[in-house]
Amino acid sequence: MATPDQRPADLLVTGAAEIATLAGGLRRGSAQSDASVLRAGGAGRLAVAVLEGRVATVGPEPEVHARLVGLGLDPADMALLQAGGGTITPGLIDAHTHLAFAGTRETELRLRQEGAGYLDILAAGGGILSTVERTRAASSEALLADARRWSVEMLRHGVTTAEAKSGYGLDLETELRLLEVYQQLDAEGPLELVPTFLGAHAVPLEFAGRVDAYVQDIVQRQLPAVAEQGIARSCDVFCERGVFDVDRSRRILQAARDHGLAARLHADELHDSGGASLAAEIGALSADHLAAVSGEGIAALARAADEGHPVVATLLPATTFYLMAQRHAPARALIEHGVPVALGTDFNPGTSPMPNLQVAMAMATIQLGLSATEALVAATVNAAHAVGLGATHGSLVKGRAGDLVVWDVPRHELIPYWLGADLVRHVVKSGRHVHGAGRVLGPGMGQAG
Ligand code: NIG
Ligand code: FE
Repeated sequence: MATPDQRPADLLVTGAAEIATLAGGLRRGSAQSDASVLRAGGAGRLAVAVLEGRVATVGPEPEVHARLVGLGLDPADMALLQAGGGTITPGLIDAHTHLAFAGTRETELRLRQEGAGYLDILAAGGGILSTVERTRAASSEALLADARRWSVEMLRHGVTTAEAKSGYGLDLETELRLLEVYQQLDAEGPLELVPTFLGAHAVPLEFAGRVDAYVQDIVQRQLPAVAEQGIARSCDVFCERGVFDVDRSRRILQAARDHGLAARLHADELHDSGGASLAAEIGALSADHLAAVSGEGIAALARAADEGHPVVATLLPATTFYLMAQRHAPARALIEHGVPVALGTDFNPGTSPMPNLQVAMAMATIQLGLSATEALVAATVNAAHAVGLGATHGSLVKGRAGDLVVWDVPRHELIPYWLGADLVRHVVKSGRHVHGAGRVLGPGMGQAG
């Protein structure tokens, strides 16, 4: 496949009825319901200009034109994209995915319908371990081809950046191959990937009954090699009853930090395992899932945020939906306690074969009680912080990444409302039009009257 042009570009996007800029940084508490929205008044329209891949100016069209002229540019000389009365938001950021794996696990759904538990299937050598077996046997080319397919799917639903975990190798060779797949895919674009090492996703069969020996393997072999190659930005652990307990998770994440990797964890997904408190204690970037978090765990996250070291609660409603769980993450309590909330799909073959973050936003409104605005904040600026890109991504502010989506609705509240509808009219990554019907008008054709 030919590598498309990845160079940052200049682009003028005009004709928007609304722009949710998400200016103002990480949101928590009541600020989670403020998306810093600009609305066009009367017959006027709004515009965004991107120069060399970064946001240059946002506002009413005449002001944007005037600022471009002030920069010595002629708006008529810029590539032009028409928003057609739609809404512009920053490109969505999927803060939690397991993008690369081999095989499918649809048979587990039947087992769960018949009453089997997710962790029982794993303990019997199925679940994650069955994907590990197939992933180890798969070629890097096959893993790349599948991951590419799903990355395109994510992009089509408005995602311009996604966190991507390894974790289906559980041996050094395959873990590195998965991270190399992400490196290659990120270089291809247009989806930008933020790679995470998840060697502690499960205990592989060859270490069955020897959890500490596997932790040792991660700490002494896998982590140093991953860090040396510089192909992961953070390290994740599945901190869960029967998988990795708090002490082992702490050991792994502290070692990761010693190697310069940020910490994140699958925390309190199925049982209250003390994961949220551990995330607060070690200053993790994010604590993910939290469907079974205790009041104590919420309090620990709240304290961390109050003390200026926020751990982003990354909630994954597609997973509780797909696992037919009785409990969903207590999003309202988290927000009320001042914990910043982000969203992800958790795309993976076992608990969330769902690559569509727009649907996760809708689920967050229905299942978790978020407002549409809180869900948008969770899928943009707060997700940027959850993946460690808070200083550059997730908002349409001068100097930030020129990543945006033009939605086929006149205001952002309708994005999670039209459940499952294809609302993405255009996707722009670093100023380049990377998805959408219709063409971008070239320089000199932009006098749209
Ligand atoms: O986030 N629970 C751990 N990891 C994934 C599921 C992985 C799998 O079942 O393959 C999750 O739910
Ligand atoms: Fe996950």
